[in-house]
Amino acid sequence: MDSKLLICIVLSILVVGTAHCQLSENFYTSSCPGGVALVTQLTRSRVSADRTMAPSLLRLHFHDCFVQGCDGSVLLDNPSGQGEKESLGNKGTLRGFDVIDDIKKQLEALCPGVISCADILALVARDAVVAIGGTNWSVPLGRRDGSGSSATLANSNLPPPNSNFNALSTLFTSKGFTNSELVTLSGAHTVGVTLCSTIQPRLYNFSSTTATDPAIDPTFAASLKRQCAFGDTTTRIKLDQTTALDTWDQNYYSNVLRGKAVFQSDASLRSNGNSLSRVNQLARSGSVFNRDFGNAMVKMGRIQILTGAQGQIRKNCRAVNS
Ligand code: HEM
Repeated sequence: MDSKLLICIVLSILVVGTAHCQLSENFYTSSCPGGVALVTQLTRSRVSADRTMAPSLLRLHFHDCFVQGCDGSVLLDNPSGQGEKESLGNKGTLRGFDVIDDIKKQLEALCPGVISCADILALVARDAVVAIGGTNWSVPLGRRDGSGSSATLANSNLPPPNSNFNALSTLFTSKGFTNSELVTLSGAHTVGVTLCSTIQPRLYNFSSTTATDPAIDPTFAASLKRQCAFGDTTTRIKLDQTTALDTWDQNYYSNVLRGKAVFQSDASLRSNGNSLSRVNQLARSGSVFNRDFGNAMVKMGRIQILTGAQGQIRKNCRAVNS
């Protein structure tokens, strides 16, 4: 353990809750050699067995961080059925919990009680993106795990897909992001799927005057309707339909520009001047998207974290230590 970390832990024990320790990429180098590499290896093998797992693992870290910070709370099973897993934005669509369970089990065998569930989520999000050929970034570590999980909090902190630009901007600003970073992070929708139920209202029941959202390109709307028939709530369709296989690229932004975004929230990035210029910039440059996406993920990974002597290192990511 390095001296800065030791001082930080001592300080946070003496002055509970006020001292804030820095995260560090080398946090586990001496306490769990091989731990970070094991996470990478296990993530890679799960994603190579099922490529669709990569987007799901990326989304898990986002949903963890936006609800009471990156504290692994999204992983907790709440016995009363009122936890984050039961919230509107998570129930039936969030997946990858078994992947995290498996990684945690193997880490506990390697070095018990050392690597937090919150850090596993941060590492796995990066490793999953890399495993499908996406961008890479360094993951600062040293988060600790929280002990509560609330569906109500998740409902008010996760953005619904019918959000307009102001709602998205207000939420992301409250988490410390600029509008430019909101646009950057939304680019995650270059991979992954949605349930047809999520876009039924946009296709068939948009408003009292128009059944289908006029912001959708008509040809694309027809194609979405073929894939998601009226009343279909169970089929899953790709968010970026330009390629059959999920690829990490900036296609999401050209989709937004051409009226081929699947959610209203995505389409709304066209409705604000500054945000539209940012969409145009990222549509032109995959390298800018990749660099800025990594930076924004690191920033996301610092939202309301627990460090030092705060929180705990859960033994099982689904339950608080007894
Ligand atoms: C900007 C506001 C956002 C909204 C409104 C939103 C909403 C959604 C919704 C509704 C789904 C589909 C759920 C389903 O029906 O299966 C989804 C999927 C996804 N979202 Fe977002 N999201 C947002 C931002 C983000 C961010 C910031 C990230 C990550 C950095 C992200 C990553 C993903 C991924 C990777 C998927 C696909 C998941 C899978 O295939 O399992 N989203 N999002």
